[in-house]
Amino acid sequence: MPALLNAEVREFANRSVLCWLATADGNGQPNVTPKEVFAIVDDDHLVIANISSPVSAKNIGVNPKVCASFIDVFVQKGFKVVGTASNVRPSAHDYSKWAAPLQAMVGDRFPIHSVFAIKADSVEKIVAPSYRLYPAETTEETQIQSALRTYGVTR
Ligand SMILES: Cc1cc2nc3c(=O)[nH]c(=O)nc-3n(C[C@H](O)[C@H](O)[C@H](O)COP(=O)(O)O)c2cc1C
Repeated sequence: MPALLNAEVREFANRSVLCWLATADGNGQPNVTPKEVFAIVDDDHLVIANISSPVSAKNIGVNPKVCASFIDVFVQKGFKVVGTASNVRPSAHDYSKWAAPLQAMVGDRFPIHSVFAIKADSVEKIVAPSYRLYPAETTEETQIQSALRTYGVTR
């Protein structure tokens, strides 16, 4: 079976500043918050550092179904990963395997309390509607220029 978190998904994850993690509590109440310290560790798993995410951690404890999405805000493309999470604590035998790429990102600057390890069940591409609605006039470069204007960024 082809890898769900393939090279293209990895590339977008690397280019995306944030991912947004959606969890839900036992009553189905959704919770969505941004996480900057995240990485794809292998063909099936995305990991997110729990630095300051008590509600996400609690929700994953009662309901492991999660969704994470990330986009390159300039190109306006990215991916949505639907999966099953576990909250891996430092006492777990395989903790260092999941934490290593995240610790490499933060060093000693931010303490990581645990790692949300998400096994991908499905992956879907996210693209700005312009790519589909106006294909003749929409390219990655036009989207980048438009996003730069929107965010007031000069480069
Ligand atoms: C730009 C940005 C990046 C963040 N990155 C992380 C992160 O990587 N890990 C983390 O635990 N919290 C991160 N946070 C903080 C959480 O989003 C924040 O504490 C949030 O309230 C946690 O909500 P939760 O308990 O519902 O997960 C970040 C916040 C911002 C604004």
